[in-house]
Amino acid sequence: LRDQGLADIQKTADLDSINKIRVRLLGKKGPITNVLRGMKDLSAEERPQVGKFANQIKQDLQAKLDEKKSQIEDDLLQAKLQSEKIDVTLPGTSVAQGQPHVIQQVIDQVVDIFTDMGYQVAVGDEVEEEEYNFEKLNLPKDHPARDMQDTFYVTPSILMRTQTSPMQARMLEKHDFSKGPLKMISPGKVYRRDTDDATHSHQFHQIEGMVVGKHITMADLKGTLELVAQKLFGDQLQVRLRPSYFPFTEPSVEADITCFNCMGKGCPICKGTGWIEVLGAGMTHPNVLKMSGVDPNVYGGFAFGLGPDRFAMLKYGVEDIRDFYLNDVRFLNQFDQKG
Ligand code: PHE
Repeated sequence: LRDQGLADIQKTADLDSINKIRVRLLGKKGPITNVLRGMKDLSAEERPQVGKFANQIKQDLQAKLDEKKSQIEDDLLQAKLQSEKIDVTLPGTSVAQGQPHVIQQVIDQVVDIFTDMGYQVAVGDEVEEEEYNFEKLNLPKDHPARDMQDTFYVTPSILMRTQTSPMQARMLEKHDFSKGPLKMISPGKVYRRDTDDATHSHQFHQIEGMVVGKHITMADLKGTLELVAQKLFGDQLQVRLRPSYFPFTEPSVEADITCFNCMGKGCPICKGTGWIEVLGAGMTHPNVLKMSGVDPNVYGGFAFGLGPDRFAMLKYGVEDIRDFYLNDVRFLNQFDQKG
């Protein structure tokens, strides 16, 4: 019985048959149980011997069953691991990741520099009231300087803003000067009725800046521009101011920085002059302050407007402004910050 049992167990290959054999050999109706049950009919001498013998067989079979069972379970686990194996060294499916548009990258850099200096960021609307785009900036209806900015009108009094400067008037009106000076930066899109070519786009970007408070001078303007230019392009950069004209600043200036390509030596980018024009600026005109309810006898300040499109063209040597607006990813991916 024992040898036959052991051989049967050895042959089994699944848990189901193991259970069946266990019931057949060791169950309540099995031969071993029968023998043990029949012990009462045996003589006192026979009883311990038979008992010992039957128990030994029972134990052997039990051990063999347990051994076989765990072996089958082991085999099953191995097979499962084998079939579900994952090769972690295989290259994964890469997920295409975008990045901010190159113009947005320039805007973010400039805005970061100004917010570090305590400027607030004010975002205006691209559809603007004529009053804020012109009148409140000291450009009355018949002012010839309106010709400087060809305009898309939505209605006779609503237009696509030609500049971010309307935010000067809006922020002057809003600001509580008892809490300290107004320091704001306002980036965004602007529109002009220009024919698109390599250097003109009917839609482009500006970053407006304004500081108005007490005792603010042109030296503050120059120092601020110098600091920003140096943070953007390098410590050696200088700023030069040239007289210019804007209706909302008096005096008005155009600011040049040392050509960051040749560092003032003269190259094709700066057309041999060593300088590149980067923005318009000036001291806020008293009329602008007055129209926004700010007393020009107490407060004064400066404003500037720079073009991130031009910045990006100069910085990356882009020759056609239209490239920024074609959404050709082959072009845009060149400005991947991730490198
Ligand atoms: N808004 C002017 C322009 O579009 C730039 C500017 C802004 C000039 C602020 C002076 C002060 O040309």
